[in-house]
Amino acid sequence: MALFVGENGTGKSTLLEAAAANCGFNPTGGNRNHAYGREAPMAELAAAMRLSWLPRMTQGFFMRAESFFDFARYIDDLDAERFPGSGPPILDAYGGKSLNKQSHGESFMALFRNKFARRGIYILDEPEAALSPTRQLAFLRLLHDLEKDGDTQWLIATHSPILMTYPNAQLFYLDETGIRETDYRETPHYRLVRDFLNAPERFLDKLLREEKADEQSATPPTK
Ligand SMILES: Nc1ncnc2c1ncn2[C@@H]1O[C@H](COP(=O)(O)OP(=O)(O)OP(=O)(O)O)[C@@H](O)[C@H]1O
Ligand SMILES: [Mg+2]
Repeated sequence: MALFVGENGTGKSTLLEAAAANCGFNPTGGNRNHAYGREAPMAELAAAMRLSWLPRMTQGFFMRAESFFDFARYIDDLDAERFPGSGPPILDAYGGKSLNKQSHGESFMALFRNKFARRGIYILDEPEAALSPTRQLAFLRLLHDLEKDGDTQWLIATHSPILMTYPNAQLFYLDETGIRETDYRETPHYRLVRDFLNAPERFLDKLLREEKADEQSATPPTK
């Protein structure tokens, strides 16, 4: 399990898109069987990247939180265009209920529960985006179940301090100096949320009193 953490705009999604392209997955989200959405804009980076694990994995899924509704609509459209009697609806593979007719978080969990298997490479861009803290824990449990007896590889970009605590995950921190491995406790994400929740009033008091907002005021990782 590799986690990618960094400030907005540091290149996490770009990196995951290039990895997904190397797996042959649809760049807008999905896998090799899905054909919709835009062309991959990071072809040069994808060409420069080599995935080193063997055997080469072609099963799996690329999940982008930001274009998930495009994916959900695409699945609905596929079912709408099918000839009657041509087998079970494609939606059955996603739990049977339109992903667009569930809440944001429910539809994410339906994908995770139904589409993720014990073998494959899973590239997930902010899978926590729609999940409550409770569901983030349910998601951690699901990852654990799939990882422990399966043959899976996970590349996950996240801003969630909860997901970052996943046991034995390698965490890579991206910033303007490059990418380095660190511990979740050293990330600004973890430190900021911890410090904030320890004393929200004091934190807000300072923040709102400052003359000019400083977006970069969080402590960078030291490791
Ligand atoms: N389609 C694009 N064309 C040109 N530049 C882009 C495009 N998409 C992203 N960028 C730029 O590339 C850089 C990295 O973007 P990327 O989306 O990979 O960041 P990120 O780490 O995923 O950020 P976030 O945490 O906000 O999702 C940013 O500076 C961004 O402005
Ligand atoms: Mg991103």
